[in-house]
Amino acid sequence: MSLANKKIILGVTGGIAAYKAAELCRLLVKAGAEVRVVMTAAAQQFVAPLTFQALSGKPVLASLWEAASGDGMEHIHLSRDADLLLVAPASADFLARLVHGRADDLLSTLCLARTCTLAVAPAMNREMWAAAPTQRNLAQLRADGVQLLGPAVGEQACGETGLGRMLEPAEVVAALPGLLGAGLLAGKRVLITAGPTFEAIDPVRGLTNRSSGKMGYAVAQAAREAGAEVCLVSGPTCLAVPAGVRRIDVQSAAEMRDAVLRELPSDVFIAVAAVADYRVDAAAPQKIKKSDAGLTLNLVANPDILAEVAALPNAPFCVGFAAETERLAEHAEAKRRRKHLPLLVGNLAQDTLGQDTAELVLFDDRGAHPLPRADKLTQARHLIRHLASFLN
Ligand code: C5P
Repeated sequence: MSLANKKIILGVTGGIAAYKAAELCRLLVKAGAEVRVVMTAAAQQFVAPLTFQALSGKPVLASLWEAASGDGMEHIHLSRDADLLLVAPASADFLARLVHGRADDLLSTLCLARTCTLAVAPAMNREMWAAAPTQRNLAQLRADGVQLLGPAVGEQACGETGLGRMLEPAEVVAALPGLLGAGLLAGKRVLITAGPTFEAIDPVRGLTNRSSGKMGYAVAQAAREAGAEVCLVSGPTCLAVPAGVRRIDVQSAAEMRDAVLRELPSDVFIAVAAVADYRVDAAAPQKIKKSDAGLTLNLVANPDILAEVAALPNAPFCVGFAAETERLAEHAEAKRRRKHLPLLVGNLAQDTLGQDTAELVLFDDRGAHPLPRADKLTQARHLIRHLASFLN
């Protein structure tokens, strides 16, 4: 397994999910990683350091003032040596402290002094997760290149159900090889389309749809985590480009098609974009004036980018998405066959558009594989694992 001999610092912060970190520590050690556990003061209110000492086989580090090395520079040595710093669970408070570059305990200081990748697995009550300050902090952490693992949807310790639950330890472990450059798609080129397209009517108006781009961006992040070189051709969205992903911005379906064809060849093409099926035949060069007579627009069909790429002689492994409003399995499977796709991801449009979570079904020659509702990044990671099984 690709975690063998990797030096991982496991940071544990204060939340009830700290108990899951014990299992996570065990799985990391089992996978061959060398684990040093660093606990915050609050984490020690939930789980005793001795638990982690026994599981990791090394003393737990907790204080900036009791550094083990002779020169007292433990925060520098530890972070310099590590391949990965993983904070799980990461509480809402810890995320806020990370955003501000606080360094008032050993774990926050390690995060600031690190040279390696930092991954965090948030865990908190759903209201805390949805709160504006937390969402602002997450956006900043993404922009700072911090890798977010989860959270998942599910039952919470407070008795509520929602988004904010820490990923299961096995899911966290599964995401790590990709972050360490030893992923399932290492050495592969992956081309992805995302977002809506915008088809001009005149210089100020246009036809578009309600795609947010969240799923396509999550797929780009998951492919990058899996070690791929990722190019994301994106229609207009408000989303930040995932760390390490190259983005090409386009507006119309025609521009998207041109950008995709220019970026080929690639090993994999994942068409997540909600491409407008029609465009206005001849967009007006000047703003159309309002009149009482009504307005008729002549629409012509847009090129089907996915079908065109899938029909190329050296076609990449092509994955389509199908958002349906009814009879998902029937419509999705028909679409997969019509476009000659080895893999198609189906979802019910009304359940997914613009949301942070999705319930998906993967359709391939072996049948239908449902993915129960989870946040889009978790779903994207499942999809990447599934498609990687076709490649090698
Ligand atoms: O036929 P339908 O539009 O439902 O197919 C959806 C799939 O085809 C998606 O993967 C979408 O990105 C892709 N598509 C495309 N170009 C189009 C229309 C859809 O690549 N013009």
